[in-house]
Amino acid sequence: MTYTVLVTGANSGLGAQMSGVLAASGAKVIMACRDPVRGRAAAARIGGRTEVRALDLADLSSVRTFAAALPGEIDVLINNAGVMAVPHGTTADGFEAHIGVNHLGPFALTGLLIDRVRDRVVTVTSGLHVLGRIHDDLHWEHRRYRRWLAYAQSKLANLLFAYELQRRLAAAGRPILSVAAHPGVTATEGQRGDRSLSGKILAGGRAQAVEMGALPILYAATAPGVPGGTCIGPDGFLQRQGHPALVRSSRKSYDRAVAADLWTRSEHLTGVRFADVITGRCRPAASGPSPASA
Ligand SMILES: NC(=O)c1ccc[n+]([C@@H]2O[C@H](COP(=O)([O-])OP(=O)(O)OC[C@H]3O[C@@H](n4cnc5c(N)ncnc54)[C@H](OP(=O)(O)O)[C@@H]3O)[C@@H](O)[C@H]2O)c1
Repeated sequence: MTYTVLVTGANSGLGAQMSGVLAASGAKVIMACRDPVRGRAAAARIGGRTEVRALDLADLSSVRTFAAALPGEIDVLINNAGVMAVPHGTTADGFEAHIGVNHLGPFALTGLLIDRVRDRVVTVTSGLHVLGRIHDDLHWEHRRYRRWLAYAQSKLANLLFAYELQRRLAAAGRPILSVAAHPGVTATEGQRGDRSLSGKILAGGRAQAVEMGALPILYAATAPGVPGGTCIGPDGFLQRQGHPALVRSSRKSYDRAVAADLWTRSEHLTGVRFADVITGRCRPAASGPSPASA
């Protein structure tokens, strides 16, 4: 049987690196890219069995179209795509860019595909989640916008989501895994996004090569025996560099009440109801998502 892995943000950085490794090891890789032209250029460089599909996580209608058009089942979903410390902006659905692209888009995508995942869902977070807090004002509408804190909020949301998904899958008796992973500090376009001094400090100083940064995510995606509801990251000092290991995330990331509340808000905002999805009765709300005010 073909082993199929879906990688979001597969045209550059960690996504392209992982796609290359997975394709070289014989997997079929579905490369979900915001810009299919750049996606196809990356696929041509990578070789192997790849398929490029258009997916814009900043637009829930694109997420729905992508999920509806995707044929068959996948073994692994890697929620890798993300924006890092970008200036204030909003998605097509009115969500702040970080929480929209990094959390709400992947939340909706995972919900719409979960019945077709055979093995596991990997959600890529960041060590910077430690600076994050899930605010009532999720979209930074009523306080001064701070790009790194907006990024940190979205990366904490990734962990809360990954751990809560594992609890819900287990409760529903679904034998698939939800695992979080992070690449430490890795040299990619995303990592070089903010060139200010504070940006360089927050991005974590010296970066490891993309080949190393991809390893924890690849390990989370493929290693047998990885426990669900855990996080894989680099084993070095402050989890910035090194080889894949089971790592601890912040105390806040294990807060079940915050996770459950974020889940409810995410369902409301995206219109994707996981409770139905997990039990095999996926019916995304016909009316679509709610405006970004929940
Ligand atoms: N590099 C690090 O040190 C580091 C550290 C911690 C966590 N991470 C995480 O690792 C993941 C990958 O980042 P990276 O470092 O490889 O950065 P990257 O090279 O900038 O890659 C990010 C990918 O996400 C895609 N993307 C952005 N917005 C999107 C959207 N609206 N819809 C679909 N795809 C979108 C980008 O597509 P375009 O090319 O079209 O923009 C690109 O393919 C992110 O989740 C990031 O938070 C990275």
